[in-house]
Amino acid sequence: MPWYPSAMAKKSTVKFVCRECGSLQSRWMGKCPDCGTWDALEEHIEAKGSGADSDPHRSLSAGLIETVNPIAQSMADIRHDDRDPIERWSTGISEFDRVLGRNSHNGDSGKENDPPSAGVVPGSAVLLGGDPGIGKSTILLQVAGHMAAANHRVLYVTSEESAEQLRLRADRLHVTSSGGDNELFVLADTNLARIIEQVRQTKPRIVIIDSIQMIYKGDLPAAPGSVTQLRTCCLELIYMAKTTGCSVFFIGHVTKKGELAGPRLLEHMVDTVLYFEGDRYHSHRVVRGIKNRFGNTLEVGIFEMTDGGLTEVADGSGLLAAEYKPRAGSVVCPVLQGSRTLLVEIQALTATGFLGSAKRKTSGLDASRIAMLIAVLEKHAEQRLADQDIFASSVGGMKIAEPAADLAVGLAIAGTHMNRSINSGVCAVGEIGLGGEVRHVNQLAQRLSEASRLGFTHIMCANTSIKPPKGCTLIQVGSLNEAINHLS
Ligand code: TYD
Ligand code: MG
Repeated sequence: MPWYPSAMAKKSTVKFVCRECGSLQSRWMGKCPDCGTWDALEEHIEAKGSGADSDPHRSLSAGLIETVNPIAQSMADIRHDDRDPIERWSTGISEFDRVLGRNSHNGDSGKENDPPSAGVVPGSAVLLGGDPGIGKSTILLQVAGHMAAANHRVLYVTSEESAEQLRLRADRLHVTSSGGDNELFVLADTNLARIIEQVRQTKPRIVIIDSIQMIYKGDLPAAPGSVTQLRTCCLELIYMAKTTGCSVFFIGHVTKKGELAGPRLLEHMVDTVLYFEGDRYHSHRVVRGIKNRFGNTLEVGIFEMTDGGLTEVADGSGLLAAEYKPRAGSVVCPVLQGSRTLLVEIQALTATGFLGSAKRKTSGLDASRIAMLIAVLEKHAEQRLADQDIFASSVGGMKIAEPAADLAVGLAIAGTHMNRSINSGVCAVGEIGLGGEVRHVNQLAQRLSEASRLGFTHIMCANTSIKPPKGCTLIQVGSLNEAINHLS
């Protein structure tokens, strides 16, 4: 007999978890030693007797650990079910299916019995983030309506609105008249255990959690929305999805900085992360894929907010460059968004400011990229911009991170400064290097054909051997300075 009691009660241990990177620390510190963020460590209490002392991550990933095989094996020995294309359930909204992912060998042969090649993967977890009032609840209620009408049972867990309020919204969105009322279940609750019990009883294919920040697990000594609650509730719901084969959609709040509230770990845990972008004061909205384990490219879906909810915009280019007219400070650029090309109007304005404190404001464009372009314009294109306030934006607030928009931004800034505009029917695409040279961009052929489809007859780009589509002419430029000489 050992001298110590065999079932010595394990004490619950207090650990500290970083809100930004999710790292675990044994004591509180002002600055996270892993990611360097100040004041980001939050108290995290391990459950008693869970074996947490020996492996702190085990209790955090409770359940998921069971899917792990502890023995290393060669890749050749690993069996998988030969399912390609993987099974998907269409959400009934094709722009939303697009961001959820598409099978590479798609089964879109037009035959009626073909399984959908895009949509939600059974057993997956999807996180949807976005500003308040942008339309997260609206789109998922519409998805719920479509899926219920297609005989996929849906459980909508509403923790911010009552069931009656949700019903009113559903009536407004014509969800209730689409014939899926019997398969659409609503639960107004925030307690994790009761939610999981209801999932067991109703056996839905899709569970929607609106929002994950409001859900709490009763036996955790932490407030709803805290890191401990978020991680535990999210993991338990994901585990439920993996074991029952239903898919879970989480709605997540964002912080002031526009990031999802809670640790980044929430994004690591789920299979797909989607963000709602757009301006609440404009009618169109963009759902962008940030991470997708079941999609080849990170796509965007474009919607318009109307009285009857969100409607799809199939021709995004038509929307974003619809009001374009050639004028000083305005240039259209074909940018890649996932697998498709969109024509986006880039606008710039310069105004006399004060030397040393000139303003530089951007909307939809990367501010540090604009700073670099301004320096290139000063150095290699003889533009004097040091005392100029500069405003640059992509029309409609569509976020553009691609360097392929450099040439259009450079031409817009130089154009407004010199009061010269690009000729009618011309758009521009190209990356600009620090030496002022215009560089190649990827997928040029695809961009050219989209520009040509929308009626552009001349496309300014780097020197290339690619043949333009019929009726289109390339204006090949070697440097930004050469491009500016084409403004009139
Ligand atoms: P909502 O989905 O509640 O936003 P979130 O869940 O992201 O906070 O969207 C609410 C906004 O959408 C609100 O400002 C009103 C607008 N809206 C419409 O314009 N039409 C509609 O049919 C609905 C339901 C909402
Ligand atoms: Mg909401």
